[in-house]
Amino acid sequence: MVLKQKLRRILALGMGLMMFSTWSEPVVAASSGLQVYEKACKKCHGKLGQGKKSKVDSSQFKYPPIHEMPEEDLLKAMTKYKEMWQKKTYTKKEKRMAKLAGRLSDEEM
Ligand code: HEC
Repeated sequence: MVLKQKLRRILALGMGLMMFSTWSEPVVAASSGLQVYEKACKKCHGKLGQGKKSKVDSSQFKYPPIHEMPEEDLLKAMTKYKEMWQKKTYTKKEKRMAKLAGRLSDEEM
């Protein structure tokens, strides 16, 4: 009984996060999108996609925030990075994103 309540709470939290991150098609696509995010993106862009400031210059982002990007722009950016990786046209700054996007399947993106 208690465990069930806990699970329900975790599920509700997950749903909240999905809605927060504006992924459409709630259940299936969103839960896997969230999993991809937690595995592949969170360590740089932060738990909620809020980005991370540079330690050297706090007016600059080391990792840009992505939580306010519309889904469409996010996909566009990821597609761009993936292309950069395939064509090897990334800059030094873009390399980490390009490499990562290059490894994601279209579905994961
Ligand atoms: C190793 C650290 C790292 C990881 C992991 C990472 N990113 Fe990034 N991301 C960056 C950096 C650095 C930039 C800025 C690169 C640039 O200037 O183009 C960036 C830029 C972006 C941008 C462009 C933001 C903008 O304002 O144009 C998007 C979108 C993005 N990342 C999404 C993701 C997603 C989605 C994932 C997970 C699949 C991810 N990132 C994982 C470091 C990372």
